Amino acid sequence: MHRRLIVPSALAASLLLAIPASAADYAPGAAGIGDAYYPASGNGGYDVSHYDLRLTYQPRTDLLEGTATLLATTTQRLSRFNLDLGLEVSEVRVNGRKAAFAASGDHELEVTPAAPLDQGKEVSVVVRYAGKPSELKIGGWTAWHRTPDGGVAAQEPDSAVWWFPSNDHPLDKATYDVSVSVPDGTQAISNGVLQSQPSKLGWTRYNWRSNKPQASYLATLAIGRFDITTDRTASGLPVLNAYSKDLGDNAGAARASVERTAEVAEWLEEVFGPYPFNALGGYVPNVTSGYALETQTRPFYSPRQFANGSNTSVVVHEIAHQWYGDSVSVKGWKDIWINEGFARYSQWLWSEKEGEGTARQLADYAYALRPAGDPFWTVKPGDPGPDKQFDIAVYDRGALALQALRDTIGDEDFFAVLKGWPQKFAHGNASVGDFVTYAEQVSGKPLAALFDTWLHQPAKPAALPAAPGHR
Ligand code: ARG
Ligand code: ZN
Repeated sequence: MHRRLIVPSALAASLLLAIPASAADYAPGAAGIGDAYYPASGNGGYDVSHYDLRLTYQPRTDLLEGTATLLATTTQRLSRFNLDLGLEVSEVRVNGRKAAFAASGDHELEVTPAAPLDQGKEVSVVVRYAGKPSELKIGGWTAWHRTPDGGVAAQEPDSAVWWFPSNDHPLDKATYDVSVSVPDGTQAISNGVLQSQPSKLGWTRYNWRSNKPQASYLATLAIGRFDITTDRTASGLPVLNAYSKDLGDNAGAARASVERTAEVAEWLEEVFGPYPFNALGGYVPNVTSGYALETQTRPFYSPRQFANGSNTSVVVHEIAHQWYGDSVSVKGWKDIWINEGFARYSQWLWSEKEGEGTARQLADYAYALRPAGDPFWTVKPGDPGPDKQFDIAVYDRGALALQALRDTIGDEDFFAVLKGWPQKFAHGNASVGDFVTYAEQVSGKPLAALFDTWLHQPAKPAALPAAPGHR
């Protein structure tokens, strides 16, 4: 569901319609969407508008099975196309007709429809599949957290291949209906609004809807035994939080933090403008990992993050991502700074508001913390490389770049940029370069040199700019 320049190609297609296409006019879609860091991520030749996942999960065995129906539009003439999936497929249909399929390469599913597909055509793709996500490892790595009472899909940059077939790249966003049946007494958590939860024959089916464009890595599924709290925000949005019944000593601190989600979102609306989605919340499953993820409308948190008591800062980070990362997403994974630099800077703004140190004080501290020779300064937040995509420098040096911007253009323009950007690129994609251009437009100042110093040089910048007025 990304914006395409369809006019010239649509015109070309309509001219070509008069001439019957021959088999030679159809080519396979590319096995990757063209990401500089992850060549196998996503696919070429089509654009998905909607995923409908109808699944069943058995926590005892970790068996996930069901049907995915994808609605897509072709962007070229296709003899075949790829999907990204790591589970086992038993049947594929394209526009209702059985299609040939083969697993190939890097968790790719190659689909050959009974008849080739013309450009600009709406297609439905039904994939029947099953598997135990915990058995899938890619390069020794997994996005599936097996828990004593179920499992969780939450990871970046990839998690979809562990649980549904997709065009697995942020460039192709879509809406989602996720329906998962689990044994009574177990819950299934996903994104958006819980539409219903009917029970029959000892099973309960959780029907979730995410009605705004959503990147595939921001789709999440958590099955387990949860306590669920629900409420509405002052403006009427449904809030749903879920806590594993098995959080032990961390249960209180986890709740004391995640229950502040609506308050955090209300504060962030003052900084970033209207909240971009129609639901919010968070969930804390009983995983052993230590990270969080900004899964759309409903971030994933790890119990360990609450081991020292409440941690509203991590809630601020993940809710800030709803604007910076989820609504405005990267064009390519090298643009990760437009997510993480801003989520980290939001934590500094929260600290300032809470009287725990101003953003400038935290920036001065982060700047002084590592001497010039520290490897920290060799990481370039503006293009860190796949191995350093989530390096601490992308976060901390990334936030320093924003403090440098603030001290260069002043608070008025800086906060106008922070609020204008999520409007300008709402539910779309943008790059680091797009941000530099936008900040230059708003401030009327040339900023290329500043961003080059803070985002693109493998060395410690000489100093933060002087901070007139707000030290
Ligand atoms: N966007 C996530 C966050 O900072 C990062 C998750 C990265 N994953 C990891 N295993 N380090 O909130
Ligand atoms: Zn983050």
